[in-house]
Amino acid sequence: MPFPSPLHPDTGIPNSSALPRRLYPGGKAPMPALRGIPASIPRRPRSVRLNNFGLCIFDTNLEQVPSKIFHGRDLELTQIAQMLIQQCAKIAILGPGGIGKTNLARAALHHPGVAAKYTDRLFVSCESATTSIEIAAVIGAQLGLKPGKNLTKSVLHSLAKKSICLLILDNLETTWEPLDSRSGTEDLLSSLTDIPHLALMVTMRGVEHPAKVRWTRPFLPPLAPLSLEAAQKMFRDIAEDYHDPEDIDQLLKFTDNMPLAVDLMAHLVAFEGCSLVLARLQSEKTSVLSEGADKRSNLDTSIALSLSSPRLTVQTGAMDLLQLLSILPDGLSDVELIQSNLVIPQIRACKSVLIGTSLAYLDNKKRLKSLVPIREYLQCFHPVAPAIVLPLQTYFQSLLGTYKKYQGSNQVTNISFDSTKH
Ligand SMILES: Nc1ncnc2c1ncn2[C@@H]1O[C@H](COP(=O)(O)OP(=O)(O)OP(=O)(O)O)[C@@H](O)[C@H]1O
Ligand SMILES: [Mg+2]
Repeated sequence: MPFPSPLHPDTGIPNSSALPRRLYPGGKAPMPALRGIPASIPRRPRSVRLNNFGLCIFDTNLEQVPSKIFHGRDLELTQIAQMLIQQCAKIAILGPGGIGKTNLARAALHHPGVAAKYTDRLFVSCESATTSIEIAAVIGAQLGLKPGKNLTKSVLHSLAKKSICLLILDNLETTWEPLDSRSGTEDLLSSLTDIPHLALMVTMRGVEHPAKVRWTRPFLPPLAPLSLEAAQKMFRDIAEDYHDPEDIDQLLKFTDNMPLAVDLMAHLVAFEGCSLVLARLQSEKTSVLSEGADKRSNLDTSIALSLSSPRLTVQTGAMDLLQLLSILPDGLSDVELIQSNLVIPQIRACKSVLIGTSLAYLDNKKRLKSLVPIREYLQCFHPVAPAIVLPLQTYFQSLLGTYKKYQGSNQVTNISFDSTKH
């Protein structure tokens, strides 16, 4: 069984990081050079091949079959397909890194109804682009245009001349995130969506829709982790059936059913077995799933990429809040966030940055939480400072003191009622 995936998911090109560890000299795959240092994460992934414009392009071969292992996204796929079939929809697939945005976009691309309506379909990876001009260059290369001045105009012209067409811009956050290229990216999207017969689908980390586009309603909700059932099926499809269900569930707890983590975990188990992986997780945490060379085969790299988001880094205190969440499996309510007098400036702005970048989310009780792999990564590489934890500790101690004082009396009911009300 290969580890993790023998082919690059978008290119179909054999991936050296997919080789089992024993195939590497010394028995260990090369570690990523900059693990755990978000500021140093390179924006450009390793090139696959260069196009005429000198940009790395990922093969977008439509003949390539969609992933055979696909679970738990039936509702989303149906919603996307219906929207695309009904009209030339403009859809954003949003959510955290590794949650399955690209996978879902590819499934939609190959959906029979979608394929029947859109014979012209372009799948464009924006990962190598740094500006909207570079995105236009990658689209231009796919359209077979020659490099030249005002390529954006040529691209728009060429798409306008086509008949009905579906364009997928994958990982658009690469140029949308940095403020200096955001406006250009939104202008390009706006011009693209002025073409009436062009359907547009973008995938982006985070939960925000780019401006200047009238996105088709209803919005697709940001992707959440898979259900436990879907994660179990995915795990079994990759790692075979004979493993103890209890071991599988224990391993899945560490992944929080985030597809990237489930995928890497299942491939590792297929190679090393459940007990060894469970033992390694105790001490090595997310590093166990981080032996590949890029974000698709290395969980640490994928998380570090999200931590390098300009939206996070420009907001003072947002990282402090995220680090605090890393030690709180149950997260924080709004009341706890405000009343504990945390020494984090603009705490509400920090909260919305974490939600906006999908580094945290609100659970069904409106508690602010982070997914397990993100928490484990932070505890390992960016542990929270004691000064940030102290006010929260004091707050909980005083709550406990109040509870003990009134325990057994009628008043305690009122106290608990009051604290859950908020
Ligand atoms: N529904 C699913 N069923 C089975 N496997 C899945 C599913 N969704 C995603 N995967 C697998 O999980 C991994 C991560 O998925 P994907 O690359 O689509 O995530 P992403 O959200 O696009 O990540 P990024 O933000 O880094 O671009 C891939 O190996 C993919 O094959
Ligand atoms: Mg993706």
